[in-house]
Amino acid sequence: MALSENEQLAPPRHIAIIMDGNGRWAKQRGLPRTAGHAAGAEAFRRIANYCRTLGVEYLTVYAFSTENWKRSQEEVEGIMRLLRRYLDEALRDMEKNRVRFRFFGDLSRLSPQLQKLCADAESRSEEYDVQVNFCLNYGGRDELVHAAKAFASDVAAGIHKAEDLTEELMASYLYSKDVPDPELIIRPSGEMRTSNFLLWQSAYSEYVIMNVLWPDFSPEHLDEAIAQFHRRNRRFGGV
Ligand code: IPE
Ligand code: IPE
Ligand code: MG
Repeated sequence: MALSENEQLAPPRHIAIIMDGNGRWAKQRGLPRTAGHAAGAEAFRRIANYCRTLGVEYLTVYAFSTENWKRSQEEVEGIMRLLRRYLDEALRDMEKNRVRFRFFGDLSRLSPQLQKLCADAESRSEEYDVQVNFCLNYGGRDELVHAAKAFASDVAAGIHKAEDLTEELMASYLYSKDVPDPELIIRPSGEMRTSNFLLWQSAYSEYVIMNVLWPDFSPEHLDEAIAQFHRRNRRFGGV
């Protein structure tokens, strides 16, 4: 049997996804937005498993942005409830799934209970290899401000000199410290914007925008995004 394009070509090491379109998916069905987020959580489970099958080393997902607090209290609480449920389950199945968890974002604004779940998931999965980075209360601008403050405070403490700052040193102050930049960023739902996602890390990422709502996203869509990625000519400013 002939190998498909994806079987012949290795997937990117690091894929990032803006999990967008849950609200529209629910609206199409006359359901509350929270039902869309629940279906989105299912899509995440499906795609995270598939990424592991493919051998993707890092999967970064945008779950809640610094701007998403603007939504109704009911919707925000619904999303937080789903996150708690997911992390409870992930902690329960930790030894079986062997996935390493990292969280990118300012977690201090989350409930103490959710912060504890995040901290436990991170510390209990440290030795595993396949890594999922959850972006929670994440904003690319917020990440850069947070990094600038931390660097300034290290300068004040005499740990660094201002002129020491390089791109590598700057990257070490980001939530994504020690994680390679994503080669591929997928945005389902058709929107053509970053919405404050991975502003620093996406400098040379390939964006694939897809006209599918996140709850409907299937392994076939991921195959298609990877196939598109392999057709791109990445030049990194060269020729
Ligand atoms: C993405 O889906 C999930 C979050 C932002 C938490 P949306 O809720 O943004 O869905 P749309 O864009 O309204 O369809
Ligand atoms: C980006 O989607 C954030 C997440 C998917 C978590 P949004 O739905 O918040 O982005 P905008 O408002 O369409 O730019
Ligand atoms: Mg949206």
